[in-house]
Amino acid sequence: MSEEKKSNRIDIINKLFSQKENQRILDIGAWKWYYSILAASYHHTVDSIEPNQMKIFQFPNFLKHHPHINYSDQTIQEYKINNNYDIILCLNVMMFLSKDYFLNTLLPKLKKHTNPWWYIILSRFGSEDKSFKKPITLFDKKEIIDSKWKEINYNEETVSQDHPPLWPHTHNIKFLVIKKEK
Ligand SMILES: C[S@@+](CC[C@H](N)C(=O)[O-])C[C@H]1O[C@@H](n2cnc3c(N)ncnc32)[C@H](O)[C@@H]1O
Repeated sequence: MSEEKKSNRIDIINKLFSQKENQRILDIGAWKWYYSILAASYHHTVDSIEPNQMKIFQFPNFLKHHPHINYSDQTIQEYKINNNYDIILCLNVMMFLSKDYFLNTLLPKLKKHTNPWWYIILSRFGSEDKSFKKPITLFDKKEIIDSKWKEINYNEETVSQDHPPLWPHTHNIKFLVIKKEK
């Protein structure tokens, strides 16, 4: 794993979290909850969506009552998005969603619920990733960026992990930050 590249991803998210006070953040598929905690540590308000589908990492009870985190155990398909967000995190969740749902339902909804000039941060595993038994839904960033949005950052990185049920494995992660055009 390239530590330098990995820290770039965290650096980018940290930088956006520090740009303005009192942000509203949507964290879709919060998993190990670390981005939600990071956002909450800036005193931003986080809507953290995690259906706990991976039994090995459960959203801890103490965070369910965190003053800056509104936790929901619904899937993003079930969750009713009522707020507008400064930053939407949709990190490594797309692989669990169908391409049709992601591109034609969820993404337009996320774009509509983003405050002017703020960001959507997306990432997904690459086609070469062996951790999914069925083929991963793939789409190009060209399908994500339309004329009202611009690319702020794109990078690819290899991340090694060691956890059940896969134990040691590697993900090739494509990371994309987009911003609403003025
Ligand atoms: C690979 S983890 C990524 C977690 C985190 N966003 C990150 O980048 O570290 C994917 C997470 O998405 C969650 N997930 C799967 N399907 C989902 C859905 N339909 N709606 C919301 N979250 C979902 C899983 O429970 C899991 O915690």
